[in-house]
This record gives sequence, C-alpha cells and structure tokens, in this order.
Amino acid sequence: MRELHPELDRILISTEEIQARVIELSNQITADYSDVDNLYIIGILKGAFIFLADLTRHLQVTHTVDFMALSSYGKTTTTGAVRILMDLREPVEGKHVLVVEDIVDTGNTLNYLHRVIKGRRPASMRTCALLQKIRQGMDIPVDYLGFNIPDEWVVGYGLDFGEKFRTLPYIATVKQ
Ligand code: PRP
Repeated sequence: MRELHPELDRILISTEEIQARVIELSNQITADYSDVDNLYIIGILKGAFIFLADLTRHLQVTHTVDFMALSSYGKTTTTGAVRILMDLREPVEGKHVLVVEDIVDTGNTLNYLHRVIKGRRPASMRTCALLQKIRQGMDIPVDYLGFNIPDEWVVGYGLDFGEKFRTLPYIATVKQ
C-alpha cells in the first residue's frame, strides 16, 4: 500500500468500510423506493460525485440522476449563505427526490436545499449523506447516513482540501 500523503494525518474510514456501507445504504434505498416509478436523484457538486457514482450503481430501482452545484460562504458560522451555481435540468414538481451529499458539516447546505427543493413541490424529498460531522447543538436530520465523524477536516472520496485529494478511495484527516 502506498504511504499516506505527508499533508494527511490518518485514514479515518477505509475503502472497504466505505464500500460496505455504500452497499448497505443502496439496499436500504432500494427497499424503501421499491414501489416508486422513478426516483429523481440529485447529486450536489462537486463533493458528491464519487459517492453518487458508487451508490447509484448498486441501486435496484429505476432512477434518474441530475446535479446541482452550490457554493457556500461562512463555513465557520451558522448563518453562512448558500447560492446555486448550477441548477437542475428538469423541474422536480411531483417527483420523488433523493438529495445526495458527501458531507453535512454546519448543515447550511442541507437546510438551504430543503427550503429550495421543497418550494418546488416534489412528491417527496429525502436526503442521503456519506458523512455527518458531530457538532455541538447541531441536529440536521439525514434520512440515509453513512457515518458520523468527529469535527475534523476530512478529504477523499469526493472531498477536497484546496481541490486536492478528491479521488482518494478512503476518507482521511488533514494535519492541523
Ligand atoms: C461541501 C460539501 C457540502 C457542504 C457541506 O461543499 O460538499 O456540499 O460543503 O457543508 P455545510 O453542511 O457546512 O453546508 P463545498 O462548499 O466544500 O464545495 P465542493 O463540494 O464543491 O467541494
């Protein structure tokens, strides 16, 4: 195995652990949506692209994939504004929507998405995230969650540090 990059501290979640959990989540989503005609999956760029690719390839329900790109400001505050850089190709009205995120950190992005997408009147909306940081006083419900993680900077499997490390197959922490 190759050595960990010097900017990284340790592997938090291994490739094998991620892959096993992705299959579990996919099976759970498949079971929950077995009677739905078409699930409309929205991946949030950039971070979700790898998780979304693995998750959807295990899904056994008919689905469509679309993307939104968002940018957020003020990560250190709870009032950080979020705006849409790239919107969906199609309206979501009347569709069963599953939003797929790589990580829920402050929760600003997911709160924003709840407001914006529910305002477009989907038939239903649920959320799926690979990671959620354990933060004091934060209670952002995620319907399908891979792992709770400590409040540290993590990279890999879609997540970056200055655009680096997104394609690592595991989740690692960055040296402080
Ligand atoms: C990350 C991540 C989530 C968001 C979560 O995106 O992909 O979308 O932050 O953080 P929050 O819960 O504090 O809102 P980022 O803005 O880093 O963009 P990227 O996905 O393009 O890297």
